[in-house]
Amino acid sequence: MINKENQAKIVLTLRHNIDVESDITLGISEIVSLCKITDNNDVRKLSSSIELIEELKTLSAPSKAIKLLTHNIRKKGVIGLIISNTNVICYEALIRLSAFTQDVYLVNEREISLTQQLVKKLSVVQSEPAEKMIAYGISLSSLLDYSTKMVFHRDKGLNANSLLNELINYLLYEKQPSKASYSIIKEAIAAKKTSLYLTHELHLYKGKFFPRMARSLINRFLPDGKGVVGDPFVGSGTALLEAALVGHQSIGVDVDPTSVLISSHKLTPASIDPDLILEVCSKINVAVYGNGNPDLFSSTGYTIDNWASFRINAPEPMRGRLIKRGKEEGYNLLGEIEDDSAKVLCLINQVPIHLQPLMRVCLSHALTKKLRLRFVGIGNGRFTIDVAKVRVLDLFVKKISHLVAISEVFYWLKSNGLLIPLPEVIKGSAKDFDALLSNRKVDLILTSPPYIPASSGREHYARARAIPLIFTGAATLEELDYLDEAFIGEMSAQVDTLHLEKSMPQHVRETLTFLRNDQQRLPKYLPTLNYYVDIEKVLHSTKKSLSDSGKALFVVGSSHTFYVHKTKEILHTVDAVSAMAELGEKAGLNVDEIIHIPLKKSGNLNARPRSTDDYSESVVVFRK
Ligand SMILES: C[S@@+](CC[C@H](N)C(=O)[O-])C[C@H]1O[C@@H](n2cnc3c(N)ncnc32)[C@H](O)[C@@H]1O
Repeated sequence: MINKENQAKIVLTLRHNIDVESDITLGISEIVSLCKITDNNDVRKLSSSIELIEELKTLSAPSKAIKLLTHNIRKKGVIGLIISNTNVICYEALIRLSAFTQDVYLVNEREISLTQQLVKKLSVVQSEPAEKMIAYGISLSSLLDYSTKMVFHRDKGLNANSLLNELINYLLYEKQPSKASYSIIKEAIAAKKTSLYLTHELHLYKGKFFPRMARSLINRFLPDGKGVVGDPFVGSGTALLEAALVGHQSIGVDVDPTSVLISSHKLTPASIDPDLILEVCSKINVAVYGNGNPDLFSSTGYTIDNWASFRINAPEPMRGRLIKRGKEEGYNLLGEIEDDSAKVLCLINQVPIHLQPLMRVCLSHALTKKLRLRFVGIGNGRFTIDVAKVRVLDLFVKKISHLVAISEVFYWLKSNGLLIPLPEVIKGSAKDFDALLSNRKVDLILTSPPYIPASSGREHYARARAIPLIFTGAATLEELDYLDEAFIGEMSAQVDTLHLEKSMPQHVRETLTFLRNDQQRLPKYLPTLNYYVDIEKVLHSTKKSLSDSGKALFVVGSSHTFYVHKTKEILHTVDAVSAMAELGEKAGLNVDEIIHIPLKKSGNLNARPRSTDDYSESVVVFRK
């Protein structure tokens, strides 16, 4: 007998800015899991707006709901889904959690009573037409996407908190926004590149997760909102922020002090008063540029008069490199960076103490953006530096101004009932992940390990990154000397593990054999062997840290090719997925599933030879 509640039907649209069609598979599996759909016949794909409108009309959707669901849909491919035999719980999960859902329509024969404050805020519930109950609304993840645009318009005096309310009123109730807000709201809804919302962009960081992918994987494997998420290679903390937004406790580990600094403070803006950030930002503006309104706040302002006492000397080899570059360009580049950093440190010293670590993240971001490094060669520590024209001081002030709107968005989320658990970040090695958890277990590991050392450009070479590390106090000079050794995938790793090669699984051995027999790539042989030995240790530790039904998701670039630079002829392809799967099995884990995620190619297809080859990531799903 069909339960009356199950006679409900849902029509949803997918986010209009999903670029890669195959991402839809990821989206559908997330939605199926969130809605606990067991029968595939209950899900039907919609491929055109005509089909969507027809369906909504058949379901007697009121014109406002039709307008909402058809206002900005995908131009091709699957644009939405229809779910039959569903219920209100599914509707609530889609609104609150789903990464791929944009707008949702629910029709039911029974009364619809929404249980969650946030879902109520994002929904309209009504009992017209007669005898049917309907609800329609916008997903929180699309709202977060929309909020990214608000961050960049905060200087116009528009509070992100009020803008979000105006946007909801516009989309759900067709209430015209104020003149000042209208263009921002329009731009926010139509924007394509919006996935780096809240603090995902707090600090420049290459190779981070796509937040949408991270969120959908968390939803898929922990659909009930319960469970602890762990990331032993936490990096910039993408997984932690997404876990927190869908209500999970989370724990991250990283060996890199910069990663620890960033990921520990990714959620700090969620617990600070937006007015305080606004005040700090305003005082910084006055101190740096002399503009703003110093009388706006009763407490005294900041000054950079004493900045000279905060000056720190940049360590070698960056020091020498910057002196040389400055000479070439005809100005004192090193002096500018050291002076600007001292001014920033002088300002940081005056902000309330609990905000100081967050401000240091902003300084680290400014320095990382100012000096972009690119490693060249085969792991001898050689690198080139791109120097941005914009000054460190300006980059810092700009970042702080973004924090104002970001903290307002967090404030909006919390005041509308979203509970955001704060993550825990521990500095240490992924090889000791279980020990660092001190007897706690995690239910889902979502992580992306470093690339194999064979793929150049990913070296750590802490001394080259010394300026942000030392200037922010994240590392000491002494630490820099042994920091590299702690990194997995470091080219300088020369530990003698030769005897372990023969016990390595097949796909690992294939790559090692190739490297050993290729004169040019021989220097990569031992670091690569060490890399795999270390990854096996991580997988061991992962197993120990998992709860009984826990899963570990290792996200890896599917393959890496070695080719002849001139002719582009492929010499060897590393099957990174098989290597990871086999190593996991060697460490006592079981492979449950492998999820392929094709990626969009980068804009510059001529950037490097073979850059036009298909590239994808894969998620190796392990269970105990
Ligand atoms: C690909 S990044 C992870 C990026 C992350 N998923 C994100 O979204 O920002 C790999 C990370 O592994 C870290 N790492 C390298 N060796 C490590 C080790 N022995 N223990 C823990 N983390 C390590 C690096 O510092 C880097 O942050």
